[in-house]
Amino acid sequence: MSMKRINSSQFLVILMFSCMFTDSRGDTEVVCVFMKSCILPCSFQSSSDFILHWFLLTTRDTHVHSYYSNQDQLGHQDQNYRNRTSLFKDQISRGNASLLLRGVKVQDEGRYQCFTSTIHGMKTSDISLKVYAPVSEVSISQEGNRITCSSEGIYPEPELTWSTSPPSNMELQDRTRVQQTEEQLYSISSSLMVSDRDPDLSYSCTVRTQRNQRNQRNQRNQRNQRRVTVRKQNSTISSDRQATISCSASNSSDRSFIWRFNHGQVIVNRSRALTVAEEWKHQVKEVSDSGSLTLQDLSSQHEGVYTCERSDEEETFMTNIFLRTEDERGILVWVVVPAWAALVAVFIMFLRCGKKRARQKGSSEERESCKTKQRVNL
Ligand SMILES: *[C@@H]1O[C@H](CO)[C@@H](O)[C@H](O)[C@H]1NC(C)=O
Ligand SMILES: *[C@@H]1O[C@H](CO)[C@@H](O)[C@H](O)[C@H]1NC(C)=O
Ligand SMILES: *[C@@H]1O[C@H](CO)[C@@H](O)[C@H](O)[C@H]1NC(C)=O
Ligand SMILES: *[C@@H]1O[C@H](CO)[C@@H](O)[C@H](O)[C@H]1NC(C)=O
Ligand SMILES: *[C@@H]1O[C@H](CO)[C@@H](O)[C@H](O)[C@H]1NC(C)=O
Repeated sequence: MSMKRINSSQFLVILMFSCMFTDSRGDTEVVCVFMKSCILPCSFQSSSDFILHWFLLTTRDTHVHSYYSNQDQLGHQDQNYRNRTSLFKDQISRGNASLLLRGVKVQDEGRYQCFTSTIHGMKTSDISLKVYAPVSEVSISQEGNRITCSSEGIYPEPELTWSTSPPSNMELQDRTRVQQTEEQLYSISSSLMVSDRDPDLSYSCTVRTQRNQRNQRNQRNQRNQRRVTVRKQNSTISSDRQATISCSASNSSDRSFIWRFNHGQVIVNRSRALTVAEEWKHQVKEVSDSGSLTLQDLSSQHEGVYTCERSDEEETFMTNIFLRTEDERGILVWVVVPAWAALVAVFIMFLRCGKKRARQKGSSEERESCKTKQRVNL
């Protein structure tokens, strides 16, 4: 055991050595997912006694993690890495010097160096750490004729694009707004004025972030783009107060979908099982495998926008169906007919009372009752 303790001057010597080796080999790139744990790989030819340092290569190299004399040496560790690093203790003697970094932040991006010194010599390997916070959700909201698309918690800087189907020119697009949070994650949003001339146009908003993935090992299933497509459809319920509204077709093998009312309340949620909201139990007659929803016993309170949401790997399809209950028929039966009946009754009463008054034979009681009736009916 020749190197029991290492003092500062020895530490400096090691640092200088490590700088000399910096450019001797190409960097390995590791893509770490934001807030997840990540392994920075490093291996060396182990010996009974060794020194291991992990640095972040900056102008003044930052101490990330050190190990010698058979234990972690965290006296020089930078604040940013406190409680977030560890080595694989059981594998270190077999030459595995990989570093486990937990709760990855955007600030962790950079070039790291693994330095080992053994009786066989010194070795450095450089690792380029890239942080990735994929686009997880894109949401679309509509207010009047303005559609707004937004997404957040993304890194690196995303881009947003609009498209329509069938294609049309979209000069009414707003400037896209990009903001960065304290955690350096990006939020993006953009609005579009929807034209009334093409009511059947579908609008798609795509948010993507570019991550150059040289080393795919750490993120096989990460998406880097999501799209939301909004389709509009009209529907008027039939006279028996039933309606069948259909969800857009999807190629996805995943057969789940959600129906919402007026952009909020969930009516039906079909994921693994089918869930129908308590408030809608009377109205939901049937839900088909393909996503169609048959509603019954509809009244004017059920008039509004029904949205079917269905997602596949990259895209969320939203079909907005405006369901109009047939109010004219309702007015005829429940409002117009009683109103006419009341008018006719009043008219007849008026005639009778008028005649009586003309004859001047009616008692004052009768006249009083006529006045009261007229007041009540009018
Ligand atoms: C080191 O050990 C960890 C944990 O078992 C493993 O994931 C990693 O692949 C190993 N690295 C090397 C270089 O052997
Ligand atoms: C590190 O963890 C210990 C114990 O789990 C805790 O007391 C300490 O406050 C933590 N330090 C930081 C900087 O988070
Ligand atoms: C939907 O309704 C609007 C106005 O109410 C109408 O202009 C449009 O043609 C209708 N679209 C379809 C597909 O029925
Ligand atoms: C579904 O798949 C077919 C062919 O497999 C393709 O032509 C069509 O564009 C796909 N539709 C969607 C919505 O992805
Ligand atoms: C739909 O149901 C699934 C599983 O039952 C649940 O995880 C999901 O959050 C539900 N979605 C909504 C919008 O309620």
